[in-house]
Amino acid sequence: MTHEVRRIVPHATDGVADADTVTWTRAMLAAFLRPRVEPGDLARAAADLVGSRLRGVYETADPAPVATLRSWDSRMSVPGGEVTVDAVTAIGVRATHRRRGLLRAVLVDDLAEAARTGTPIAALTSTQGALYERFGFGLASWNRALRLDTRAAAFRVPEATGRLRTLEPATLASAAAPVQDRARRRHPGSMDRGEASWAALMTGVNLFGGLRPDPVRHAVLWSDATGRPGGYVVYRVAQDWAGGSGEIAVLDLQATTPESYRELWRHLASLDLVGAVTWGDASTDEPLPWLLTDPRAAAPGASREMLWLRILDVPGALGARRYPVTEQIVLAVDDPAGYAAGTWLLDTTDPVEPRIVTTTAEPDVALDAPALGSLYLGGVDPRVLARAGRLEERTPGAAGRLARLVAAPTVPWNGIRF
Ligand SMILES: CC(C)(COP(=O)(O)OP(=O)(O)OC[C@H]1O[C@@H](n2cnc3c(N)ncnc32)[C@H](O)[C@@H]1OP(=O)(O)O)[C@@H](O)C(=O)NCCC(=O)NCCS
Repeated sequence: MTHEVRRIVPHATDGVADADTVTWTRAMLAAFLRPRVEPGDLARAAADLVGSRLRGVYETADPAPVATLRSWDSRMSVPGGEVTVDAVTAIGVRATHRRRGLLRAVLVDDLAEAARTGTPIAALTSTQGALYERFGFGLASWNRALRLDTRAAAFRVPEATGRLRTLEPATLASAAAPVQDRARRRHPGSMDRGEASWAALMTGVNLFGGLRPDPVRHAVLWSDATGRPGGYVVYRVAQDWAGGSGEIAVLDLQATTPESYRELWRHLASLDLVGAVTWGDASTDEPLPWLLTDPRAAAPGASREMLWLRILDVPGALGARRYPVTEQIVLAVDDPAGYAAGTWLLDTTDPVEPRIVTTTAEPDVALDAPALGSLYLGGVDPRVLARAGRLEERTPGAAGRLARLVAAPTVPWNGIRF
């Protein structure tokens, strides 16, 4: 049977997606073992895909794809700025067609287009840890679970400040999006949220969730004394209080200042009928324990992988971020796919415009494309990669120099699953 990678540009009429997009969506959900969705609901939900690039691998006789991939341009914060990334998701292969190279076919096609159109980085999250390194992706950020015992939580600053306002589904995006846009600049790796993602955050209706509304979601916006919004939190009732004590699960919490962060947590801790607040996608360095008289009231849980990054254009990617020290370092990058391959001088003499050019100079450090993706946001120490044999120090102390160079003001964090 012959296979062909085809691209679909989704469109919608009166909120209903076109037939190709609906067929693609059904195939994608089946690959992820999601519940079957009633056709009318599916056609309306698939309209959210407008603006994405969809790819399918088709067997010539079958209108339904045997493999799927969705991507779109997203803005991702980096130290000192932001960069456009090719956000990749929904890679699924029909259960009867696995291990025949279809994931490879669809992903290689997407990366080639991203590179051709000048997108310097591709980003994805993965269901499995051993899948994407072979395509040049490196693990670059982690999230960590956090659990607050609200009955043990006493804040070191006892008085609440500012003002809280509840948000409704209709007002969430307009009130929260500007806040998220400012808040995400504080965390390398933090990505923007599209319109459909804002709607799903509050209603719970999304393709992966079987399109069931989740009516136990709430959102609160915090503003300072001058009325300027500084942060928001969206949460759901994970366990009703009828069992004796309720539990709240945070879905998104974004704060632009220490004060807004503290007051949002104070709000969560003060909810009547609630004994615990959990957050599965907190950053690995949440300040919450430091706000409390007893830091043990906030218990960190397991961390899990979040972003995998694939550098497609070395000058474009490394030139988009800023660096905390002046340095000139030569990196030899091994990349069988070719995108990042070469010997590169990274020269940060000009703090505003780092220079990244190919060079014939001897490398200080040799590494492969996944290792470069892992280092990019400053969340992985090159010396650790050297200890793992994943990075070779060709001049003594070069891994340490590189560590100081790629260091970021905060750990990378992206709280938005995609
Ligand atoms: C994971 C999945 C997309 C793989 O698709 P596939 O078409 O079988 O993959 P391919 O045949 O193109 O394999 C490409 C490479 O990945 C390897 N690979 C595939 N699945 C793997 C797995 N689960 N673990 C480790 N390696 C895997 C293959 O051996 C192959 O290696 P090679 O080319 O270096 O020899 C498919 O099994 C699937 O749809 N799973 C359910 C949905 C899912 O988890 N999607 C991933 C979302 S991040």
